[in-house]
Amino acid sequence: MNNNQHTPVLLLESLEYLITDKSGIYFDGTLGFGGHASEILKQLNSDGRLFATDADENAFKFSMNRFSEDDRIKLYNFNFKEIETIAKLEFTKYFDGILVDLGVSSFQLDNPVSGFTYKQKTLLDLRFSKSIKLTASDLVNNFSEEEIADILFKYGEEKNSKKIAKEICKYRAVKKIVYTSDLAEIIKRITPPIYFSKTLSRVFQALRIFINDELETLRSFLVKSVDLLKVGGRLVVISYHSLEDRIVKELMKYESLNCICPKEYPVCVCGKKSRVKILTKKPITPSVEEIRNNFRSRSAKLRAAERI
Ligand SMILES: C[S@@+](CC[C@H](N)C(=O)[O-])C[C@H]1O[C@@H](n2cnc3c(N)ncnc32)[C@H](O)[C@@H]1O
Repeated sequence: MNNNQHTPVLLLESLEYLITDKSGIYFDGTLGFGGHASEILKQLNSDGRLFATDADENAFKFSMNRFSEDDRIKLYNFNFKEIETIAKLEFTKYFDGILVDLGVSSFQLDNPVSGFTYKQKTLLDLRFSKSIKLTASDLVNNFSEEEIADILFKYGEEKNSKKIAKEICKYRAVKKIVYTSDLAEIIKRITPPIYFSKTLSRVFQALRIFINDELETLRSFLVKSVDLLKVGGRLVVISYHSLEDRIVKELMKYESLNCICPKEYPVCVCGKKSRVKILTKKPITPSVEEIRNNFRSRSAKLRAAERI
């Protein structure tokens, strides 16, 4: 493994929003191969601190090695929803900046050892961490046809979800679905060649989001993050999927509102106070040049908010 396993997306843009104090305390919830973390460290001075998590063991081990010489950074092989636990372990009440760059890294997408790739034959797993009990193979072999169709539709926005779920059940009645290539074969049987690759990608994405409970994890993490930001501190989120982006947008909007009483109420009775100011009215997206250099950045959307 080397630093080229993943090209960080919206690197300078995200750091421009994130760093307000070079001696501050920062949290990177999706360390990966350390692309953003390394740039954060470059911008911090010797008093600055960075706490970072990745649920993936390969990414964690790689980054432990990469940053072993820098005592300003401390890494945890944790889910980022454990941000509160990390703050407690580190005797930190507030962070100056919190960053998450969601989804999976290029290494995970390309490498069979990660259990995420559909480009080569590997066990159909899709768990970020082995502490999660259910694998994608368990799911496609044991869930009902209706449940599978719902997951593909809800998390992959897959129009042919029912047809695919039916084919999965037909296949598994004869042979257990064990490998990523088994699932690819099922999709191939019922998908015209020009749609095959995109359909496969949506199916894998849907299973991954469900297996790792990614949307609920993100929701609870965002709420905790606002609690843990210092006044003037920044929350920066890069997402790659419309469902994730909607959660980020709605949470930031909700946290920015001062009152949520129905319009017809003459006075506020809810008492809700705004906790953030939204810094990105519209999401920041990669430049044409970034997309040309790193095609995987094409769906990225960055949103940032400041604690008030
Ligand atoms: C897009 S990559 C991040 C890349 C990183 N910013 C870099 O530049 O190298 C996303 C990373 O987040 C991790 N991840 C996704 N969801 C997570 C979660 N809930 N908790 C901890 N890590 C998570 C994945 O394992 C993956 O390594």
